[in-house]
Amino acid sequence: MREGEAMPVVVYFSRAQENLVDGSMQNLVTGNTQCLAEKIACQLNCSTYALEPVAPYPRRYKETLIRAELEKGKQLLPEIKALPHDFSDESVIFLGFPTWWSSYPLVIDSFLKQLLLTEKQLYPFCTHEGSGFGESLIVLKKRYPTACVKVGLPVRGSRVMKADEAVKNWLRHYYCEKERK
Ligand SMILES: Cc1cc2nc3c(=O)[nH]c(=O)nc-3n(C[C@H](O)[C@H](O)[C@H](O)COP(=O)(O)O)c2cc1C
Repeated sequence: MREGEAMPVVVYFSRAQENLVDGSMQNLVTGNTQCLAEKIACQLNCSTYALEPVAPYPRRYKETLIRAELEKGKQLLPEIKALPHDFSDESVIFLGFPTWWSSYPLVIDSFLKQLLLTEKQLYPFCTHEGSGFGESLIVLKKRYPTACVKVGLPVRGSRVMKADEAVKNWLRHYYCEKERK
């Protein structure tokens, strides 16, 4: 780190408990995206912040599917708990989420809408069950045209524990960019 240089941060949303992993229902103690977020933060040696909706998503997978579909269809942004950090000084945010209904959960919008995104670099990462990012990157770029959305890292939920090498390779994009400045 150069003197005066701001550290990146990892901000993510993840929902543990009942979920589909490789097509079968499992009870996750730690959410897949949280596992990935922690691996990224460990390699970057930076802090993580978990986004939490004020009204938690149901434990049951199918009930969560229904709520997420309704939120997506009607663009209902869930209220999120305040984070113990002001992100105005960070220029780089690693932003993680599970793919929901081929996009990102609206909790992410609840967070991004609070920020002044001009000149902020967003490095998106997601976990999924086969759709990759789906339309998430297109939607992010469209909704936040002043942000600089960088190359993303999609990881299948069932492979998250083996993602260290993929994370390392992906972070090269960030380090290259940093060197150029
Ligand atoms: C409401 C909901 C919708 C989902 N929609 C998709 C989808 O469209 N495509 C996909 O590949 N996986 C989908 N999934 C699976 C999750 O993306 C996957 O299990 C992810 O790893 C969960 O991450 P988490 O444990 O951090 O919440 C969905 C899961 C939920 C709960």
